[in-house]
Amino acid sequence: MDKTKLTMDKIVNLCKTRGLIFPGSEIYGGMGNTWDYGPAGVELKNNIKRSWWKRFVQESTNSYGIDAAILMNSRVWDASGHTSSFSDPMMDCKNCKTRHRADNLIENHSKGAVNPDTMTTEEMQAYIENHKVNCPKCGNYAWTPIRQFNLMFQTSRGVTEEGGNKIYLRPETAQGEFVNFLNVQRTTRAKVPFGIAQIGKAFRNEITPGNFIFRTIEFEQMEHQWFCHEKDRDNFYYEFKDKAMKYLLDLGISPDHLRFHDHDKLAHYAKAACDIQYLFPIGWSELNGIHNRSDYDLSRHQEFSGKSMLYQDPFTNEKFVPSVIEYSIGADRLTLAVLSEAYDEETLENGETRVVMHFHPAIAPYKVAILPLQKNLSEKAREVFASLSKEFMCDYDEAGSIGKRYRRQDEIGTPFCVTIDFDTLEDNTVTIRDRDTMKQERIAISDLTSYIAERIKFN
Ligand code: GAP
Repeated sequence: MDKTKLTMDKIVNLCKTRGLIFPGSEIYGGMGNTWDYGPAGVELKNNIKRSWWKRFVQESTNSYGIDAAILMNSRVWDASGHTSSFSDPMMDCKNCKTRHRADNLIENHSKGAVNPDTMTTEEMQAYIENHKVNCPKCGNYAWTPIRQFNLMFQTSRGVTEEGGNKIYLRPETAQGEFVNFLNVQRTTRAKVPFGIAQIGKAFRNEITPGNFIFRTIEFEQMEHQWFCHEKDRDNFYYEFKDKAMKYLLDLGISPDHLRFHDHDKLAHYAKAACDIQYLFPIGWSELNGIHNRSDYDLSRHQEFSGKSMLYQDPFTNEKFVPSVIEYSIGADRLTLAVLSEAYDEETLENGETRVVMHFHPAIAPYKVAILPLQKNLSEKAREVFASLSKEFMCDYDEAGSIGKRYRRQDEIGTPFCVTIDFDTLEDNTVTIRDRDTMKQERIAISDLTSYIAERIKFN
């Protein structure tokens, strides 16, 4: 289909009707910017996370996985700088009482010509005043001054709120990797360079314009920190840029929908930083980040914890605090990219339109659907389900015409449909249908596992 015609609404509707993603707390009227993954959605996201882990942990001789606690000692966030400067510039409209991000107001007003990331708070304030940027909600010009609004959710630990200690829901998984640098290095006897990766939930109190799972207040990150000597960091930065791009291409995302975007404004310690952007239905937007971060992270934890982060090179005996190349991607944002990429509307020979999700088979929610042609074939069909479900996530469907059942599977991107008919009872063969070509083949039940396994690999 012409991808310029793909709207976010189409994706949201399909996700809702096909059990991929539902609005959060829906029966209570919802809860802004939260989404629940349904039966097909949880499989899709788990498969995406598995493909990432396979590529960045399993297939690496010196990257190690961890699963750190979401709640961390508050000093971690002092060391990382999140308590002092992890904030968005916000303005309230005194007329309609809505809250807006000043940087978004400027970006929208200038139609992308001005980059607010490079501006100070004072410069943003001046731009909004000089250009009389009105409230997008009520059209009035009645702003409070810009205030920095910290994005961390905070709560307290202890019996009473007053007596408790302030703690935060982590706004990124990265700090769990930094604070475990010594533990992982010692227990694995890893030599620098090596990596630490984790996948987990992060939370940010974002004011967002919606956009489905693109930006939510609770989301999952897949982050990988590569610890290296300062002299090697530029090379590793380029290596990770390539690796990050290759992973997305291997997932089946078109190169026409991906591009690098170098950051103009860098943190004082950073040497370089870039995003990979994807052409979402909302336009080109960040999908993941790659940052060349110097020894800032470990040095700060050394300073705040009092624990030495020095690493001694076993060959040269040089002692140094390792630098970090950070690669970070949101599992939900990647799910949205994958949904947008896979979505297709095809006109069939009989004039009907089919919606089909062309997921890479490795990440498709179900690998195969077992469909008895008639209900009285269900005993045999359940036998086939029992054997295939030991290997793959399978769906079973005996409701409705076979055409309708194919359509349902196309809409959740099931790469193969296996039909059980009366010949199956005679000769133990089935029809297997390919999602993309819709071609059908007759094969023996005993060959099904190897047939499917060969076609769903993620390499
Ligand atoms: N440790 C670095 C870090 O957290 P980031 O650019 O803030 O960097 C990394 O986040 C990635 O996490 C983003 O590229 C995006 O894919 C995802 N992400 C960030 N905020 C998000 C949000 N509110 N909702 C969904 N995904 C988000």
